[in-house]
Amino acid sequence: MPTPARIHVAHALHEVFGEGGRVPDIWDRELGEDAHLAQALLGLCLRRWGRLQAWVKPKLKDPDRGVPLGTRVTLAMGLAQLAWLPGVSDHAAVNEAVELAGNRDLGFVPHKGLVNAILRKAAKDRTALAAELEALPAALDRSSAAERALRAALAPHGAGKHVEGDLEALWARLQRPPRPDFRLLKGEVPEGLVPLPEVPGCLCLEDGAPFPRPWLESAAGMVQDRSSQALLAYQWERPVTRILDACAAPGGKATTLALRHPEADLVALEVHPRRAARLRQTLEQRGLRARVIHADAAEWLERAESDFDLILLDAPCSGSGTLQKHPEWPWLQHEDLPRLTGLQRRLLTAAAERLAPGGLLIYAVCSWLPEECEAHREWLAEARPDLQPAPVWPGRLGTPGEGSEGHSPVFRPNPLHWEGEGFQGFAVTRA
Ligand SMILES: C[S@@+](CC[C@H](N)C(=O)[O-])C[C@H]1O[C@@H](n2cnc3c(N)ncnc32)[C@H](O)[C@@H]1O
Repeated sequence: MPTPARIHVAHALHEVFGEGGRVPDIWDRELGEDAHLAQALLGLCLRRWGRLQAWVKPKLKDPDRGVPLGTRVTLAMGLAQLAWLPGVSDHAAVNEAVELAGNRDLGFVPHKGLVNAILRKAAKDRTALAAELEALPAALDRSSAAERALRAALAPHGAGKHVEGDLEALWARLQRPPRPDFRLLKGEVPEGLVPLPEVPGCLCLEDGAPFPRPWLESAAGMVQDRSSQALLAYQWERPVTRILDACAAPGGKATTLALRHPEADLVALEVHPRRAARLRQTLEQRGLRARVIHADAAEWLERAESDFDLILLDAPCSGSGTLQKHPEWPWLQHEDLPRLTGLQRRLLTAAAERLAPGGLLIYAVCSWLPEECEAHREWLAEARPDLQPAPVWPGRLGTPGEGSEGHSPVFRPNPLHWEGEGFQGFAVTRA
């Protein structure tokens, strides 16, 4: 019987490559100590899927016909363990993959022999296998969606003339498993965490330090990517008494807003009931004052009784900027982009309508695609001439050429120099 860790990985790969679905956040919850192996194996299979498939193809009897997904999954899992997980024995890597291929739910029973033969041969020289896989072009691991996201990420910084080397360098960085960033909420900086000089209040894990689970569980800190933290380090001196976080769950940015403006009334909206309940719980656990409302933000804003001095619209998006954290992203179906951009426009229109005179509206997405941010910014500039760009971020976080006096109304850190998630945003104020 294959171990639960490998069964979970096989199921997750089937979900991604068979259904075009995401790996659920809690896919490894019941795995205990084996979760590390499962995470490493899943990450390797997702990040090197193209090369693993290309390595197998010439070894098939009929390469053009290919093999069913179950066989491809079990082969990829076996090969990834042999090539890149030296702690896994040949026996475990090969035999468990063969057993998975014999499981009707996960593999393709007639291919047990094929899986066995290919993996046994590969196990004879694991170093050579790794070298052969590494020698295949890294571009094989990129879907067209990933390629597009990378080009979009680099375009504003190189005015469209960046060299292919930049693209490869960015892709190589995004293929490394991400390292989490943290934010101190109260008390002292715990051992093992060190400040990130570029973003005040942002902490990183020291090399070799354990993940600070007890500290997080004590609600003294939270995990928050440096991009989100830099976005919320906007420089804005005008008084803020009413704040709206229009898309607030799970509550990372609502937390920062509540701590930054403790005297203000904070309304946090969330359309999904379960996420709204979790948001309420998180804010309560952190001892923060906020009114959490389960509602569609556009509808709620239409009926809102007053305007807001500060609106954060951290909009639902494709998540193209999170592909380091979500290595399945390149392989998902991305058919819902027009629906998302329509929703973003609807939310932005409603938010702009309720911005108080002199107030600040920040729109942001964790995506590099221009249609999810830049296009909205251009549209808003035409549709609402009463809204002016607000240069609230240090110029180095913007795009060269935008902004004044060292500050920018656009948030778009250069992904070649900035190791945070891919984020884009803009800020406007109402005259
Ligand atoms: C990018 S996430 C927000 C992350 C959050 N700001 C944070 O920092 O923790 C977008 C959120 O918007 C919610 N959402 C999607 N459509 C919405 C709508 N029409 N009204 C309000 N919330 C919405 C999603 O369920 C999701 O929780």
